[in-house]
Amino acid sequence: MKNLFSYAGKRVLITGCYSGMGEAAAKIVRSLGAEVVAVDLKRPAFDFQAFHEVDLRDPVAIAELVSEVAGAGPIDRLFYCAGLPGTFAPVDVVGVNFIGMRYTAECCAARMPRDGAIVSISSSAGMAYQMAAEQLNPLLDLEDPVAARAWVEERSDQIEGYTFSKMATILWTIRRAASLTPETGIRLNCISPGPTDTPMMPAFIEVAGKAFMDNYPKPIGRNSTPEEQGWPLAFLNSDAASYVSGENLYTDGGGAGGMMTGAIKPPAPPPMGGD
Ligand SMILES: NC(=O)c1ccc[n+]([C@@H]2O[C@H](COP(=O)([O-])OP(=O)(O)OC[C@H]3O[C@@H](n4cnc5c(N)ncnc54)[C@H](O)[C@@H]3O)[C@@H](O)[C@H]2O)c1
Repeated sequence: MKNLFSYAGKRVLITGCYSGMGEAAAKIVRSLGAEVVAVDLKRPAFDFQAFHEVDLRDPVAIAELVSEVAGAGPIDRLFYCAGLPGTFAPVDVVGVNFIGMRYTAECCAARMPRDGAIVSISSSAGMAYQMAAEQLNPLLDLEDPVAARAWVEERSDQIEGYTFSKMATILWTIRRAASLTPETGIRLNCISPGPTDTPMMPAFIEVAGKAFMDNYPKPIGRNSTPEEQGWPLAFLNSDAASYVSGENLYTDGGGAGGMMTGAIKPPAPPPMGGD
């Protein structure tokens, strides 16, 4: 039987390869046979087939990156794993986590083959996206990344950048897949991890407090590892998921589902200014 999890012959673009989930996903798909074109602000320690140093807040740099990479061969898959925590300014957090993700995805989609696939990383922090649709839709409707950044900048005192960026990612993924997949055949999905032991964790503790992070629902009894996020990312962009599009996969051990159904009590909101 054909191994549908294989990445043999696939050329994949992966942002956020320097550390955490992006590094894990890149190593996993490389081990499954992919040619990995790595993208980050910092050069990864692992020797991938190619590396591009790009600031994903910059749409000109993104367009140049995709054009250069697509000029050298097919972009079969995009893994957008770069991200910033809420310790950065909202315009940069939304800029990397959502606006940069959407623009990279659109630039890649315009060059991908018909069986292409795109996956990005939201968060269980974005689980209230349906309730926030009215607030999110004006940003989703602004397709131009420069206009979208200006929209966020004008509202930076009203927006908590991290949660906002994660809700926007889920809503856009589900909404955009409904047009992208029928138009192009390209699949578009995201994952929503729970707390994961990556270099970003200290920033979450700084913003939300240690007590909040310790008490955050973890039905499996611990934080996830970066690899436990890398494998679902690899699955969604593999041929094994060829009928999966417009999906937000909670990779949080069941925490979000438990909280949404009332089976798990949500943690008390973090105190203002940490604990
Ligand atoms: N760690 C968690 O508990 C957790 C939980 C849910 C979701 N997430 C999300 O997972 C994604 C990956 O984060 P992680 O936990 O692996 O953290 P990480 O800090 O290890 O990885 C983020 C990567 O993005 C890169 N990056 C940041 N800004 C960039 C920019 N402007 N241009 C290019 N690259 C840039 C960083 O250099 C880094 O390699 C993020 O979107 C994060 O919000 C993390």
